[in-house]
Amino acid sequence: MEKYLNAPIKEIITKFPEVGRILEEYSIGCVPCTLGSCFLKDIVAIHNLPADQEAQLMYRIEKAIYPDRDIKKPEGKAMARKAPVGKIQYSPPIKRLVDEHALIKRWLELIPEFLEKIDIESEACRQLVLDGLDFIRSYADKFHHAKEEDILFGYTDKNLDIIKTILQDHEAARSHVKAVSEALKSKDRKAIAEHLSAYRDLLTEHIKKEDEILYPWIDRGLSTRQVGELFAKFNEAEERMDKEVVDRCEKFALEAMGRIQKMERKKEEVK
Ligand SMILES: [Fe+2]
Ligand SMILES: [Fe+2]
Repeated sequence: MEKYLNAPIKEIITKFPEVGRILEEYSIGCVPCTLGSCFLKDIVAIHNLPADQEAQLMYRIEKAIYPDRDIKKPEGKAMARKAPVGKIQYSPPIKRLVDEHALIKRWLELIPEFLEKIDIESEACRQLVLDGLDFIRSYADKFHHAKEEDILFGYTDKNLDIIKTILQDHEAARSHVKAVSEALKSKDRKAIAEHLSAYRDLLTEHIKKEDEILYPWIDRGLSTRQVGELFAKFNEAEERMDKEVVDRCEKFALEAMGRIQKMERKKEEVK
């Protein structure tokens, strides 16, 4: 079993698909992960399951890999429950990042509806794509991702696979944004829809990973002094950011829904 504990999860799931299904039962979403290079032992540690659940999980994984092996079944409930989805307590600086996610998600959640109604010949519609890109670039990336990359991840080992996966998501998100911007110039409706949807799917999954796994894990490793230091560094970073840009982005996220509805009403009036 030792060799699998130190093996990349994608390799294990490819060889033993049942392991992927078991992990999903514990709300450990390794199957859709883009990289899949985290070691099984790190994945189990990062998710910080209650001891009885972790024992059940490891028992089931070992059974899936070695069905004929005589493995001692752990005490406790026969089958595992899902990992508890209680309210996660974040330290104040990390909570600030979670709140920023909430604002980013407001736009992400509107993207499918927007794409259904998109009319590339309409000026208002193109402006909404442009403003959406500005929100993503200025707020989700420059304001939020920069705090993660330049400050928060400095409190972790950047060589860890989970951090590499997160950074790779940021890069993939940037390339979708670039592609949407190019497609907008050539009024390529299909490419706009394709990359904006892909961006939405990627970032929705990414935020979930951070809120539920990465942030709680980082938080657990921070001392009180480090929490204070992080708080101060975030303040400094925010002060360096143009307040008008942040206000503009917050306004965009709050008003986007109304703008989509207005666009739709205008379309109806023209008919
Ligand atoms: Fe991130
Ligand atoms: Fe984030």
